[in-house]
Formats: sequence, structure tokens, C-alpha cells
Amino acid sequence: MSILIKNGHIITSDEDYIADVFIEGETVSMIGKNLSVKADKTIDATGKLVMPGGIDPHVHLDMPFMGTFSSDNYETGTGAALFGGTTMVIDFVLQTQGKSLYNALEAWQGRSNGKALCDYSFHMAVTDFNDSTKAEISKMVNDEGITSFKTFMAYKGALMIDDRQMIGLMQEVKKQEGMVTVHATNGDVIDFLVAKHRAEGKLAPIYHYLSQPEITESEASGRFADMAYYTGVPAYIVHTTCEGALNQIRTAARRNQKVYSETCVQYLILDASLYEQNFEGAKWVMSPPLREKKDQAALWSGINQGSVQVVATDHCPFTWEQKLMGKDDFSKIPNGHPGIETRMELLFSEGVNKGKISQNKYVEVTSTNAAKIFGMFPKKGCIAVGSDADIIIFDPNEEHILSAKTHHMNIDYSAYEGWKVKGKVKSVIMRGQLAIENNVLKVQKGYGKFVKRNKVNGII
Ligand code: URP
Ligand code: ZN
Ligand code: ZN
Repeated sequence: MSILIKNGHIITSDEDYIADVFIEGETVSMIGKNLSVKADKTIDATGKLVMPGGIDPHVHLDMPFMGTFSSDNYETGTGAALFGGTTMVIDFVLQTQGKSLYNALEAWQGRSNGKALCDYSFHMAVTDFNDSTKAEISKMVNDEGITSFKTFMAYKGALMIDDRQMIGLMQEVKKQEGMVTVHATNGDVIDFLVAKHRAEGKLAPIYHYLSQPEITESEASGRFADMAYYTGVPAYIVHTTCEGALNQIRTAARRNQKVYSETCVQYLILDASLYEQNFEGAKWVMSPPLREKKDQAALWSGINQGSVQVVATDHCPFTWEQKLMGKDDFSKIPNGHPGIETRMELLFSEGVNKGKISQNKYVEVTSTNAAKIFGMFPKKGCIAVGSDADIIIFDPNEEHILSAKTHHMNIDYSAYEGWKVKGKVKSVIMRGQLAIENNVLKVQKGYGKFVKRNKVNGII
């Protein structure tokens, strides 16, 4: 199969030019003006942007969590990703405390093998660091191509590790040339506030927000960065939401430390006022919670200053029926919100089309930086000869409305119902195959492959 994309406006993280792209098999084989080659399929991209497919390094598919499972499985979640212009996701394998890392890996392989539509990889969440899990780290890196290790500083009793385990894990991951990533919030302080609010009969969704004040995130981000500094391990903070946490990341950068930071679209464009309604606010119960307008401004600046390198989703959908598990108690609302399908269009609309970020920055934070940070560049994250042909053709001007009626995620509401978006994914090419055309899915379940990643080399 060969595809010729004609006359597109090619945007990468550092270039912007008009040319043709010729794809043979799974990779890009030629880029140039007026290419005269015969192709099985020709796409006229005149007036359209041609950009690297999105890489979303923070999703939770079919994940057991808070007594239920996130509602998108590997088939529905990766299909929705493709509709939204994302051609690769990185999911989190969660170790069960008391069991091995391999035990968890096998469970995730069982839920994903042969089911994905786009490419995917795993971060390994270490929830119980001890001598036997320590011995598995080098196997994950060298045999499985899993080079990033997720930690939780919250969710005590299920996922949280203490600082003794954290420092031990960091030393081992540093030795194996991997990276430690973190959900950085102070679990003990949050648990104290949750218990206090419940004891006072304060049970509405807004108390989820009030149980996780900014300080719980800034304190944990700083503590994590300090431990990473001491051990020298490359570090990455997932879902950064607030100015206080960002300032800790800036402090780390001032001492020339590599602490990468990710935010998610929802933290850039939604705010905590959404919790000021009755149970409806449960749609946005996620951890950390939505913050204030001043935090949105700080995050946009963080992106432009290079302190925030990635914009992901933390896609973790729960249906309305699942959210109702917490109708009488906010602490039982499954935490998470849907976003895998809307990230690329929302960020373009709110970021590029409203003048907050450039087109090159858009590509950097939606694709290239994730590929570089997580050991996949230049196979993924760029449009270059020899790279995987993961490409989106995007109309920067087409307007449309987001709705649960038209999205492809397996969830019965949209976190952005009725939002008017300017910018639309028109075609998606996934490893050389036309995956989306005219809003129709063209690849089969199982086309998506597991991507083994390289050791972390800190190239950005
Ligand atoms: O609320 C969230 N973010 N749910 C998914 C788990 C996590 O903390 O990322
Ligand atoms: Zn988290
Ligand atoms: Zn998450």
C-alpha cells in the first residue's frame, strides 16, 4: 500500500512548509515538492495542515479502579483516539500490592492483545516496591521495552508508595536508565480532608475539590523533585494542574534538573466553578481536581516557557451510572473524565486558534515531546523519511460541536457537551494505513501494535 499526500501544509515541532509526502508500507519514504510518483491512493491536502499523529502518554483503558473499570476498553478507547487524531497512547499497568510487576503486566496484556486500533505502550505503575519488584525493573526495561515507572503519592491502601519506597525505586530506575513518573499529591493530607468533610456531612462533589487544595499538589511535586534530584533519576510529573506545582518544577529547572511536566487539556480550559452545581459536578470529579483561572494562565505560560512539555488527557472515563456510585458521598465517585478523542481538536481550537500557542508548539506538546521523553523518537512524533507514517490531515478552520451524540468514546456524556470547536481532524494515517477518512474508521481491531520503548536519554 502506498499513499501520496499532495500539497499539504506540513507542520512539525520546528518546521512549517508546503510539500508532498509519499508513504510506502508503514513508513514515510519521500518528502518533496511536486513528487511525481504513482501511489495506490492520493489525498489532496491543499489548504490543510499535515501534522504528526498525536501521542497521548496518559490514558487508562479498561482499568480496575475504585470498585469498577474505566468504561473504554482497548477497542473503543483506541478507536476513539484515532477519530480524534491520536495515533499512539501510553496506558498504565497497575501493580496489585503484594503481587509482582509481571502479574500486572500479564493482566494488561490479556486486556489489550489483539484489541487495539492504534499503537500503544505501557508505563509500569509500581505500587509496592520491595526486593522482588526491584529485581523486575531491569527485565521491564531490557526485555519488555517498558522504560517508565509510575508512582502514586496518593490513593493510600491501593496505589500509594511512601518516600522510603520512592527513593529505593528511583535509585534502581536510575541504574537501569529509565524514568520515574508521578501522580504528585499528598495522599495523607487529602485523606485527612476527605475524612473531615465526610464527618461534617459535606458529601457533594465540590468537597472532592475542597479536599485537594493546591498545597497538596505543590508540596508533593516539590518533594518528588527533591528526591529525584538526590538520586539523579530523570523524572516526569503527570497531570500538573496548578501554579504552585509549576513553581516547584521551575525550581528544579533552575538547578539544571530534568523534571518534565505534563498537563491535560481539561486543566487548561475548564475550572473549578463546574463543581458549584449539584451532583452534575461528578462529571469532572478527577484527581487532581480542576483548579482556578489563575492556574490556567500559569499552565499556558508554562507551555510557552518550556516548563510544561506535554499536553495529555488522563483519559479515564466512567459512565453516568458509574459516577452515581458516589451520589451520596463524593469520595465514592470514580475519579476520572473522558478526553482521548477531543484532545487534539480542543487544544488546537483553544490554543492555536485563540493565539495562545503556535502551530509548532502544538505539535511539540501533542506528539514530538512525548516521543522524545518516552524513548520513541524519531520512529514516532515527527514527519520524516524513515519514520512511522502516523499522520493527520487537519482542517484548521472547520467548525463543529462536541457532543456525546457524535463522539466514539464509550461514555454516555461529554465533558464538553455543546462546545464549539474550530479545527477538525479530516484524515488519519496510522503506520501507513488510512485509518480514518470522512469520519469513517478504516482499520480493524488488532491493527494497533505494542511499541517497545528505548531507554531514556534525556534528549529534550
Ligand atoms: O482522576 C483521575 N485522574 N483518575 C485516573 C487515575 C489518576 O490518578 O490518574
Ligand atoms: Zn493521577
Ligand atoms: Zn491518570
